[in-house]
Amino acid sequence: MLRLKKVTIVPANSSEVIVNDVSFTVREREIHALVGPNGSGKSSVAYAIMGLSGYHPRQGHIYFRDQDITDLSVTERARLGLTLAWQEPVRFEGITIGEYIKAGIHDGDGQRVQEALALVGLAPDQYATRKADASLSGGERKRVELAAVVAMRPWLMILDEPDSGLDIIVYDELHEMLARIRRETGTAILLITHREETGDMADAATLLWKGQVLKSGNFAEVMQAYCQAIGRRERCRSKYCPMPS
Ligand SMILES: Nc1ncnc2c1ncn2[C@@H]1O[C@H](COP(=O)(O)OP(=O)(O)OP(=O)(O)O)[C@@H](O)[C@H]1O
Ligand SMILES: [Mg+2]
Repeated sequence: MLRLKKVTIVPANSSEVIVNDVSFTVREREIHALVGPNGSGKSSVAYAIMGLSGYHPRQGHIYFRDQDITDLSVTERARLGLTLAWQEPVRFEGITIGEYIKAGIHDGDGQRVQEALALVGLAPDQYATRKADASLSGGERKRVELAAVVAMRPWLMILDEPDSGLDIIVYDELHEMLARIRRETGTAILLITHREETGDMADAATLLWKGQVLKSGNFAEVMQAYCQAIGRRERCRSKYCPMPS
């Protein structure tokens, strides 16, 4: 579905290599966790996959559904079925939730908006006509963002820390929601996360460390490599930590 081959990124206006020789694969319908410490390059990899300006690979290639998309525009990639939900969601004051979701699906009808809202657990009757403003809770805002992505019917959705800012109690709801979205739409998900509870639902995972892939494998293997890279048992709270306490 998605393959990164030896991708190196030097952002525009910078001489620093922030992503170095990164390769990994996301299979069809797979939930793939991308983990790593702050500043390890996770969002930058997401931006390069999406084709954002400033993050075009200096070297390497990105393949999506058997096509080399390295030089395609964001719009062309979106048309092929790639979407990204931002780590810091954009503000969308002033319009209704329905209008906001519809804005992302040019040929879309109201039915798709309704379906997307239902999939993220927001009652369509109640939410489609509601103003997308500050009265929404953080959790509702996340769901609206997710609905907007779902409505685009992507082959692959990239979620950059969908769990950030969520109360610990709602993790289970988030996981249920992502599992439902995958089940009902068949989309693959590249799931950037700092949380083990979220990563645990992934079929496969990749660990980024200082811009490089330190490990790809199942989530437990990747977390073990992560713990070893950190190397200090007292700071590790992972249930997969292989180091003696
Ligand atoms: N446009 C840019 N110009 C210069 N440096 C950048 C640019 N974008 C990212 N970086 C740097 O690249 C490194 C990786 O950043 P990135 O946002 O990809 O990390 P991350 O893994 O997503 O971190 P976090 O977990 O905190 O979200 C950081 O040191 C960041 O400052
Ligand atoms: Mg990030």
